[in-house]
Amino acid sequence: MKPRSCLAIVLAAGEGTRMHSPRPKVLHAIAGRSLLAHVLAAVAEAGVTTAAVVIGPGQDEAAAEAKRVVPDAAVYVQHQRRGTAHAVLAAKAAIARQPDDILAVYGDTPLIRPATLKRLRAPLAAGAAIAVLGFRPADPTGYGRLIMAGDELVAIREEADASTSERAIGLCNGGIMALAGNTALAILTRIGDHNRKGEFYLTDAVEIARAMKLRGVAIEVEEDDVRGINSKSQLAEAEAVVQQRLRRAALDAGVTLVAPETVFLCADTQFGRDVVVEPYVVFGEKVTVEDGAVIHSFSHLVGAHVGKSASVGPFARLRPGSRLGEGSRIGNFVEVKEAVLEAGAKANHLSYIGDAVVGANANIGAGTITCNYDGSDKHRTVIGKDAFIGSNSALVAPVEIGQGAYIGSGSVITANVPPDALALARGRQVVKEGGATRLRGLKSLGKKKAAPGNSNQ
Ligand code: UD1
Ligand code: CA
Repeated sequence: MKPRSCLAIVLAAGEGTRMHSPRPKVLHAIAGRSLLAHVLAAVAEAGVTTAAVVIGPGQDEAAAEAKRVVPDAAVYVQHQRRGTAHAVLAAKAAIARQPDDILAVYGDTPLIRPATLKRLRAPLAAGAAIAVLGFRPADPTGYGRLIMAGDELVAIREEADASTSERAIGLCNGGIMALAGNTALAILTRIGDHNRKGEFYLTDAVEIARAMKLRGVAIEVEEDDVRGINSKSQLAEAEAVVQQRLRRAALDAGVTLVAPETVFLCADTQFGRDVVVEPYVVFGEKVTVEDGAVIHSFSHLVGAHVGKSASVGPFARLRPGSRLGEGSRIGNFVEVKEAVLEAGAKANHLSYIGDAVVGANANIGAGTITCNYDGSDKHRTVIGKDAFIGSNSALVAPVEIGQGAYIGSGSVITANVPPDALALARGRQVVKEGGATRLRGLKSLGKKKAAPGNSNQ
């Protein structure tokens, strides 16, 4: 049988007033990824053939985000916010092409899983005109209620319009609807705005379908699948759910998380086999960790690649562009940015390595700083393999340290150092025999003089 075509319409035109933020609601992030990107990723994995996103006027950033995630997504603008059905009809041109299935998904419901979307589509193939995801929230306030007659869904009542007995219904609208493509437009165009808010409610589609002798069904799912995000506290709740899922997936793939609840992951964090992550580690976007690497406690990684069997932290910061080679080591209080450490290179303590290449097996002593920024431009530092940088050295970029070169501790290196050379760039030490004794003598003399009548105790 030919797979059914499917159009997904993601509604993102809302202002998200309850977020108290100038940013469009769908651009807020959980697990380092926008709400919109979460929804579009789930939609893409659910066998959707065409994705459409409905944005508000002037929400160019939301459009750009949609295109970033799904380059061929169609973007429609809902010029006035007249309700969810009105928003769906902004994509009328796509609906009119009569795909087999249509999914109307709210952009503020980011925890939806591909498998759940597939379950929702299934009744359409069996002849239903409309299918809705239902759930039983701990607190149903604010959600539309699903009115059932046996196993048939007969209506959805918005809270503002619900009677007291309808409000007592625990089964709520999850905000995701599947519509059969051949009847969708006929249903949607009949929706009116005769309700408390004077909006065109997508939820009215159910009663209209029934009046047209078409069948509606509800599919009940877990609250976590359809949690809607209207406020910052709901954003935080969704973050907790998504973190739990990501941790579970990492554990299932064989990553050792010593204290999973303390590790924060990103939707795109990638782990190889047998990686160990100690407690309290934060992964930002675009991090990959290869087989056998260990990330010690209190490390923060963003845009970093950690090679095989490398060791990071405790207390390390890997910023975007950090690439650690096999068996390399980044120790405590070391910050790395736009830098490559080749295999076996080490920076074990208190360093900043930015805009640099550190050759294989080079050793960066404690307190070494690559001075990459001159106040207006960034410059590179290149350190050859097997080089040794003595502790507390400043490497003023642009500068090259040759292979096997040795930098004496405390040097300020401003010129290139050839391979296998020894460079010392610090003040010469002066030793004065008996100087300390003389100094103490002078000090005690000064105290005796100052003592009588000295009021500054
Ligand atoms: C909606 C449902 C409610 C359901 C709940 C689930 C309706 C009428 N109500 O209520 O039954 O229980 O979601 O979370 O559908 N949007 C637009 N344009 C508009 C209005 C909304 O694009 O004119 C978008 C919003 O950006 C949002 C989504 O549609 O992504 C839902 O709108 P929202 O105002 O959050 O609806 P709820 O009141 O949460
Ligand atoms: Ca909502």
